[in-house]
Amino acid sequence: MIFDTHAHYDDEQFDIDREELLGSMKEAGIGNIVNVGANMASSESSLALAEKYDFIYAAVGVHPSDSEELNEENIERLRKMSSHEKCVAIGEIGLDYYWPEPDHEIQKKWFKRQLQLAREVKKPVIIHSREAAQDTLSIMREENAGQIGGVVHCFSYSREVARECADMGFYIGIGGVLTFKNGRKLKEVAEALPMEKILLETDCPYLAPVPYRGKRNCSLYLPLVVEALSEIKGISPEEVIEITEKNAREMYGLSR
Ligand code: NI
Repeated sequence: MIFDTHAHYDDEQFDIDREELLGSMKEAGIGNIVNVGANMASSESSLALAEKYDFIYAAVGVHPSDSEELNEENIERLRKMSSHEKCVAIGEIGLDYYWPEPDHEIQKKWFKRQLQLAREVKKPVIIHSREAAQDTLSIMREENAGQIGGVVHCFSYSREVARECADMGFYIGIGGVLTFKNGRKLKEVAEALPMEKILLETDCPYLAPVPYRGKRNCSLYLPLVVEALSEIKGISPEEVIEITEKNAREMYGLSR
């Protein structure tokens, strides 16, 4: 079944129909979902969702845009949260230079600190990186992130950068952008990477695939990404689902 490796169902955009929507996943072929924290509050609510639904797992971490809320006390809180039996990763963490704030040095500091936390608690990381390829790669190298493992999610860089991440042992997260008319760069990345390095993700409520582009995204639209990927790779949609599910289980340390 389809494994959505990155979603935000705690987002208020799902307040009107969250239960109904999540209740419809299994029937639609969505097997597992990892709900990803982006700040302290959404890390808590990710765990709450994972407690409520057997097929949902959680990641806890603070997104670079919220990194100013981090301090050692909150790192300790994240550490505690990460020991929850349904927490499978530290994330999302990383660098986002698209927005002027917070200061790059602050982002870098807490990206490194959360990589160290992941190493300490032996969980993979979910890396968010936008317009910060070189700094992201240097910090990954500096912190030996290859030993930690994880995914560079919502991948937006060139195939050269994708190869570097893959060579470090990282997976590449691919979602709705693959179906965009201007998604050429991501198509090239998908072409260049072996299937064994690719994970499916929505990043919902954001980045809905065509023909839902601009609308609220959800895991039910992932078959559109599966279809696009199967065309690019010349394999069946079933194979895409099977391989990406296996990759996701391997990365998150989940058995069948
Ligand atoms: Ni996200």
